[in-house]
Amino acid sequence: MSEALDKWRVLVLHGPNLNLLGLREPNVYGRVTLEEINQRLGELAAQRQAALRIAQSNHEGALIDAIHDAREWAHGILINPGAYTHTSVALRDAISAVALPCVEVHLSNVHRREPFRHHSFITPVALGVIAGFGWRSYTLGLMALLDALDEQCASRS
Ligand code: DQA
Repeated sequence: MSEALDKWRVLVLHGPNLNLLGLREPNVYGRVTLEEINQRLGELAAQRQAALRIAQSNHEGALIDAIHDAREWAHGILINPGAYTHTSVALRDAISAVALPCVEVHLSNVHRREPFRHHSFITPVALGVIAGFGWRSYTLGLMALLDALDEQCASRS
């Protein structure tokens, strides 16, 4: 990654159980693996002169540490918080604390699913949410984040 030459640096974070994509409930989450999603994000980032650092963790604290670290180097965050979406005040507070623009994504349309998935602790601290488009939620989310960063930059100059 040639971060110095890139316009934007983005942390991509995948939450718990997303390492099992491709195998995990394919009728809900599709057959595309996390590696393939990361590859597609990488291709899009290259077209947009953006650099990505990508991490997945099944541990809430590790996700929070990655968000804190991003303060030092990233312009924005793309996150699928997985089940922590619906449970984690700590993750929400971390995003709020670093004050980086953040886009929340979900493969599935959480609003068509069980009621416990309808509430997100993350949404109030996110720029926006994309859900229900399978792996494309990630690429749509990255496009939205980079467009927002471009716009922010244009409005400052
Ligand atoms: C998910 C939706 C969550 O409710 C679930 O716990 C996940 C994946 C999604 O991408 O659709 O792990 O974030």
